[in-house]
Amino acid sequence: MAEDFRETKPLAGLRVALSVHPEAKTAWLCRVMEMGGAEMHVTGSNPLSTQDDVAAALAAGGMHVCAVHGATAEQYRARSTPCSKRRPTSLSTTAAISSTGCTRSIRAYLQVIGGCEETTTGILRLLAMDRAGELRFPMMLVNDADCKHLFDNRYGTGQSVWDGIMRTTNLIVAGKEVVVCGYGWCGKGVAMRAHGLGARVIVTEVDPVRAIEAHMDGFTVLPMDEAAKRGDIFVTVTGCDDVISARHFPMMKDGAILSNAGHFDVEVNVAALRKMAAEHYEARHNIEGYVLPNGKTLFVLAEGRLVNLASGDGHPAEIMDMSFAVQAMSAKYLADRRAELHPGVIRVPHEIDDAIARKKLSTLGITIDTLTDEQKKYLGV
Ligand code: NAI
Repeated sequence: MAEDFRETKPLAGLRVALSVHPEAKTAWLCRVMEMGGAEMHVTGSNPLSTQDDVAAALAAGGMHVCAVHGATAEQYRARSTPCSKRRPTSLSTTAAISSTGCTRSIRAYLQVIGGCEETTTGILRLLAMDRAGELRFPMMLVNDADCKHLFDNRYGTGQSVWDGIMRTTNLIVAGKEVVVCGYGWCGKGVAMRAHGLGARVIVTEVDPVRAIEAHMDGFTVLPMDEAAKRGDIFVTVTGCDDVISARHFPMMKDGAILSNAGHFDVEVNVAALRKMAAEHYEARHNIEGYVLPNGKTLFVLAEGRLVNLASGDGHPAEIMDMSFAVQAMSAKYLADRRAELHPGVIRVPHEIDDAIARKKLSTLGITIDTLTDEQKKYLGV
């Protein structure tokens, strides 16, 4: 794809603003878009996920980069504003766009051709904005493409969450009781890999269909009030807030480990935990111990931020290649069809998924069958 972008320059003359977790894999997406002819403006999307060496390397290569590890909310806003003030013609993000964030400032710039949203949480906001008639330009739902959520969310999150937890704690997962909150695409992966590591897995859900799925997949399904008493390790991955809340902490076992893999740091209510704790201390790098008035200590990983990114290297490149291929192809799609697209959300066309899957299969050396004309007729395709 990089070769193709270098030759055909699908983004020539466009300014692309990217809000990403700046690390090696997203850096390559930035480079490919630049090869495609775009002037790149890059900002971070989470205070702990920015890797400063990567941001510096991109800046040294001539890109406009506004990101720093450990940025405060004010610094984040101050750093993302220049990105939007550069009057981007295309916007791509792996972070959520909220009506109070990026989009409001970008609204002023009506030459924006469109944007691509990579994560589930961001798409929730976009759908709400679309319903309210607030979207001023087309937004591609990158997360909902098959080549994104079926692989990145399930296999990527499933593996990298455990990599993050294991390298941060250096504990054994086998034999532990693991509570996975949310059985969506990410939760399925996290639960599947926990089971593979030898854990006994409990799932909490609010969606009845997904709860049945978890049950049929062999996991114990419990409400959080029950699961809170049982877990040794908790992973929230819902996109919701206050999933593990103040009332749950006193019920938990001494030494329980709390982590989050959902987009924002609101799933484990760390603020409430900090308030109720008699004391807290750094137990180990990226692990905070909170001593409760009942004498039990709970450990929070990476301040309750995305554990796989804030406490690890994120997903392997072998899975992100597909997600970022969807990003790059969607940006190209917006550029190609700029005259005919209208404001609102746009599903990634099947042809993009199909082309990426075929390319991925060829890199894996896997060949598949092709329908004959008779079969196509039989199937009506
Ligand atoms: P999804 O929509 O497929 O699944 C979320 C699940 O959580 C749903 O089944 C929903 O019913 C459930 N849920 C919602 N509120 C709940 C609550 N209070 N208690 C229990 N269950 C609840 O979403 P997906 O794709 O699994 O993403 C989940 C989160 O993970 C999002 O915030 C997304 O942005 C983030 N994400 C994180 C990644 C990472 O690298 N850590 C990668 C991809 C997505």
